[in-house]
Amino acid sequence: MTRSYRFPEDFLWGAATSAYQIEGSPLADGAGPSIWERFAHTPGMMVGGDTGDVACDHYRRYQDDVQLMKALGLQGYRFSIAWARVLPEGTGRVNEKGLDFYKRLVDELLENGIAPNATLFHWDLPAALDDRGGWLNRDSAHWFAEYAEVMFKALDGRVQRWATLNEPWVVTDGGYLHGALAPGHRSKYEAPIAAHNLMRASGAGIQAYRAHGKHEIGVVFNIEPKYPHSPSPEDLAATRRAHAYMNEQFADPALLGSYPPELKEIFGAAWPDFPADDFKLTRQKVDFVGINYYTRAVVKNDPSQYPLKASPVRQPNKTYTETGWEVFEQGLTDTLTWFKDRYGDIPLYITENGSAFYDPPVAEGEVLDDPLRTGYLRKHLRALHKAIDAGVQLKGYYAWSLMDNLEWSLGFSKRFGLYHVDFATQKRTPKATAKLYARVIESNGAVLDD
Ligand code: BGC
Repeated sequence: MTRSYRFPEDFLWGAATSAYQIEGSPLADGAGPSIWERFAHTPGMMVGGDTGDVACDHYRRYQDDVQLMKALGLQGYRFSIAWARVLPEGTGRVNEKGLDFYKRLVDELLENGIAPNATLFHWDLPAALDDRGGWLNRDSAHWFAEYAEVMFKALDGRVQRWATLNEPWVVTDGGYLHGALAPGHRSKYEAPIAAHNLMRASGAGIQAYRAHGKHEIGVVFNIEPKYPHSPSPEDLAATRRAHAYMNEQFADPALLGSYPPELKEIFGAAWPDFPADDFKLTRQKVDFVGINYYTRAVVKNDPSQYPLKASPVRQPNKTYTETGWEVFEQGLTDTLTWFKDRYGDIPLYITENGSAFYDPPVAEGEVLDDPLRTGYLRKHLRALHKAIDAGVQLKGYYAWSLMDNLEWSLGFSKRFGLYHVDFATQKRTPKATAKLYARVIESNGAVLDD
């Protein structure tokens, strides 16, 4: 029997971006600086000295960009709000001009029949709050709830799907443990505290939503499944540690109200005894969970690696993306079924999935051919369909990303877009993957049968 890849009738097809990666004009109209504005302007932090000063100039071109979405037939668009545009000092005074940008964007999306999905925090903490200790300060949960409330009052109803945080693991691993991302700290003592306060903030944001909002709120995690390199007890234990650190460290406090025991083993004396009451705050009812899936890791025991004592093993004869990630679509199916088994039958969205492959800086012709990315999309959508067949309550998919953008400290060197962006002229050109995605949306997946 031939398989049909048609998706459920109410399945939502979308694409995602984030504020600092696309907007540009980060200080326009009274916005305050964010930690990314500071980091990008610190010499040596960004590949090629790139910054988000212009990025995709979306702050000024958002209407044209909504037309790009419309041309794909997108039903939903996931974007993030730059906290420091709305609250330049992070708390207190609201900058109406900054808020107005998001009101205009949301209006434009709705007028074009595209459902807005807003993420409140995609890594660009106001610098003024970093000066007060950032995520290391327990007050950060209250700062976040105050900001969230401003947004809910301004936009709930027109925005019907909210997320508190995007990928808290990346914030703490990159920002507080290894230092490759803003704010660039390197401390085994700080990382668990920042992680914990992020999850307290997410909980406080959800509580604020219950008081002010009437639709859906959730949180977005990056989940990277871990597979053992060998069946040796050492490799199995290393795999458990890697999984607990990257995946369960965030989803457990949010959905189970606890931490996995491996974290104490990993961090040793640096693992704090968190007050039991905190878990009442971290564990709030969510309406959905967003999962960002890119790749897997095969893990081996490695005592030289700090602090996990585990390292990834590169797989022979496999395709790797330009960011060094193995193309492994079965991991998407496995992630979704694992999530359901561990946390229960929560409605799930894939809030990001995509790949960076080599594209030229300037696109010639009307469509840019990108066969590796097209293959990645096709394989991952089929893997997604398998998860639905296995009983996962999967409600939608957002491709990462609508267009090439600032890949954080890797600058403009890595391209994930459905649309190619020529950063010298801001010209957008659809890639073949965009064309395939438009056909997927139009046929609700049936085109994947071919
Ligand atoms: C992030 C995006 C990022 C993408 C590709 C995710 O970790 O949410 O902001 O661009 O992956 O690295």
